[in-house]
Amino acid sequence: TITNYREKYRAQYHFTPPAKWMNDPNGMVYYDGEYHLFYQHHPDGTTWGPMHWGHAISTDLIHWEHRPIALKPDGNGAIFSGSAVVDWEDTSGLFDGKPGLIAIFTHADVYPGSNRTRQRQSLAYSSDRGRTWTMYAGNPVLVNEDIADFRDPKVFWHETATEKYWVMILAAGDRVHIYTSPNLIEWSFASEFGASEGSHDGVWECPDLIQLPVEGKSGAAKWVMIVSIGDNAEFQEGSRTQYFVGQFDGHAFTNEASPDTVLWLDHGRDNYAGVTWSDVSKADGSKLFIGWMSNWKYANLTPTVEWRSAMTLPRALYLREGASGIRLVQEPVSEVRQLRLPDRQWQETVIGPNHNLLSGVEGDCYELSCDIDLGEAAEVGFKLRKSEKEETVVGYDARSRSLFVDRSRSGKIDFHSEFPCKHGIQAALPGGRLKLRLFIDQSSIEVFANDGEVVITDQIFPDATSTGMELYVIGGEAKVVALALYPMKSIYSL
Ligand code: FRU
Repeated sequence: TITNYREKYRAQYHFTPPAKWMNDPNGMVYYDGEYHLFYQHHPDGTTWGPMHWGHAISTDLIHWEHRPIALKPDGNGAIFSGSAVVDWEDTSGLFDGKPGLIAIFTHADVYPGSNRTRQRQSLAYSSDRGRTWTMYAGNPVLVNEDIADFRDPKVFWHETATEKYWVMILAAGDRVHIYTSPNLIEWSFASEFGASEGSHDGVWECPDLIQLPVEGKSGAAKWVMIVSIGDNAEFQEGSRTQYFVGQFDGHAFTNEASPDTVLWLDHGRDNYAGVTWSDVSKADGSKLFIGWMSNWKYANLTPTVEWRSAMTLPRALYLREGASGIRLVQEPVSEVRQLRLPDRQWQETVIGPNHNLLSGVEGDCYELSCDIDLGEAAEVGFKLRKSEKEETVVGYDARSRSLFVDRSRSGKIDFHSEFPCKHGIQAALPGGRLKLRLFIDQSSIEVFANDGEVVITDQIFPDATSTGMELYVIGGEAKVVALALYPMKSIYSL
């Protein structure tokens, strides 16, 4: 249904709306062999406006069938972010004893006779595998008149030997609230978390609460709370996402780190409001995540014309125990590999300062994976989407021990003063070896380092003709142990 997929900057293997504005991913749920992805959508403009839920369905998380708009503003307001679940046991009583899909979202409007914002939680349901949606007649189902920012409900089923019920986590100003319900309709307050934990650089939004396995340790699962924090003019990073690792007892979450510890989910600028799919996990227990690949600092200004913004690659989330504690790991879902076209490989090659191993190699949409032994080099990296006038740099600076992306000359950058920038994160290299997987599309770069422990996601807007590549090294020789370049097939090609 995207007719003009060759237009400038249109992602070739990331999810984009066919037209007009998109922000947060919403209502991700897996049911009857299908992955549903809804999204914050303004169908009448390419900037944020009255919110609807756009909708797409996939059987492989890669190729998406665009569906009609699922939820539209009604008498209770616009449709802000939220989640969806399979009501397997018809606890809601809306499905005649059969399973059905329920979306739980924020209805946003203003208090009658005022301009004070009002955010209330509502339901919509579908008995036809998500094809059509009906607003629940008793909306809203959860209100709190004391809190202005009260939104983005994420719901999951909690079942132990002795109890079973629904749990909702939602953003409540500068913290999250947790509620429970037997039927998705009547909700009781259970606990709150976060008023003095983590980062409060912006309003809290779009929380998620999931149990994840710890790699290599069966039975050692932990609970992870994901919290996005909104833009704040004081901080150049703009909107971004943090996470906490701890325990959940069915009613309350406890953070295992000290309250002032801040763990960022992504060290780039463009991974926001991401949450996980309901009713599915991979065989190893990992959960599936997707984020909005933009930033409220400049989301309304990016230089696309017919549509705005893309989602990250779908990613599998799990935990890994390392020297500094238990950390989140992200990997592109394995389904992404089906897009690889025949590759080019390089092995066991020493590279020095005046030799570009990738000279003459070109590409616009591709995956690049490498193992490079840094040796004596002070800095090693790639210059991608390169031409005489532009390039995006992904490098490792051994002097500061930091992995970085520099998009200050990445193409179109002048739509916001803080878009051009270089940013990164300190990351030790196990055994002095730089292990990267990079995913380049028409308007994005995703960097997965150290087997998914360090992630940098950024939008870039290079010219279509900037297709050069360089592997550079500064201050000494390094060794390419293995390097593979996979051109990526467009999801629009037959
Ligand atoms: C996050 C957010 C949510 C809200 C939605 C509105 O990006 O601000 O908190 O529900 O976007 O579109």
